[in-house]
Amino acid sequence: MSLLELNGVKVHFPVKKGVLFDRTVGHVYAVDGVSLSVEPGRTYGLVGESGCGKTTLGRAILRLVDITDGEVVFDGTDLAKLPDEEMRRYRRRLQMVFQDPLGSLNPRQNIESILTEGMVAHGIGAGQEERREKIRQILARVGLPANALSRYPHEFSGGQRQRIGIARALVLEPDVIICDEPVSALDVSIQAQVINLLEELQESMGLTYVVIAHDLAVVRHISDVVGVMYLGALVEEAPSDLLYTEPRHPYTRALMSAVPVPDPVVEDGRERILLTGDLPSPANPPTGCRFHTRCPWKQDRLCDTDRPELRDLGGGHRVACHWAEEIAEGKIQPTANAAHLVPAPRKEHPAETAD
Ligand SMILES: Nc1ncnc2c1ncn2[C@@H]1O[C@H](COP(=O)(O)OP(=O)(O)OP(=O)(O)O)[C@@H](O)[C@H]1O
Ligand code: SF4
Ligand SMILES: [Mg+2]
Repeated sequence: MSLLELNGVKVHFPVKKGVLFDRTVGHVYAVDGVSLSVEPGRTYGLVGESGCGKTTLGRAILRLVDITDGEVVFDGTDLAKLPDEEMRRYRRRLQMVFQDPLGSLNPRQNIESILTEGMVAHGIGAGQEERREKIRQILARVGLPANALSRYPHEFSGGQRQRIGIARALVLEPDVIICDEPVSALDVSIQAQVINLLEELQESMGLTYVVIAHDLAVVRHISDVVGVMYLGALVEEAPSDLLYTEPRHPYTRALMSAVPVPDPVVEDGRERILLTGDLPSPANPPTGCRFHTRCPWKQDRLCDTDRPELRDLGGGHRVACHWAEEIAEGKIQPTANAAHLVPAPRKEHPAETAD
């Protein structure tokens, strides 16, 4: 059974105008109907361009933003409808780790005080000594020295600060951790260490993760299932390896085609899809399929009139495209917008030119 299940979650931010009377003149459809489920002990990776609603969705799960519609069912309870008082009891079990470790740690508090704060608020530990002991254990688990307790955030490196952010979540003994771009602010060499740490902790503590990242490589490495978001909605979802070997949504194919492949022969021969045009505004999303303004396979029928549902293709693969099968079978070729599709540059291999 899923530990976390989202059903049709929407977060619409009102756009206000006027000085005296706050008139609502429209909405930003930041999250607009997301359904997904996360199994206990597993990792769900969420990818998509900047502004597609990843952070807002993460915050909605923790109810840090108002949910306009839909259900956030955690361990059998719909958090979206819980009164604030009851929600407080659940908050400990769902924690968030942020992209910017320095910005999310109070520079005037030492590490002990930062880590103790949440424990006191949630009644963890009988007294200061018991809490300190628990903090020491957690610091050791995340690879920080015990003398970190009396030090301040600025005394640590970026990678260490992210470990502090992870420790702050762990002392509360959560079931689910939402990691929002957990390594984006770190040097590449440090990124792998933090990702490995998250994986170790998951294994030893049975944690469930939602990992948000724009870096496809990070998400692939850590996730069991990956969901691709575009303008507030999921366009595709699949077990991690399947998504990367058989992307079925044109947007996912475009995202994948932008990632370099280390093998030069594969790199030479693969398709590159350049998306033209900017990401449309979530305050005024396109009709029908939200991707139709940029999709090289757009058809005259359905694409700009009917919003595609996320359909099950079997094997845990879901896709929101009217024409996914026809595109995969080659029955539909890229349309007049074919300028979006750039043929792979053909390099001459020595074997072919030597004569
Ligand atoms: N409190 C808010 N009020 C109004 N609009 C908001 C608010 N928070 C986010 N938005 C808008 O909602 C949309 C989604 O934002 P969000 O931060 O969730 O995207 P994201 O996918 O996390 O982007 P990034 O990769 O840049 O972090 C954006 O257009 C953003 O401007
Ligand atoms: S529904 Fe149409 S516009 Fe949308 S992704 Fe599929 S082919 Fe492209
Ligand atoms: Mg974000």
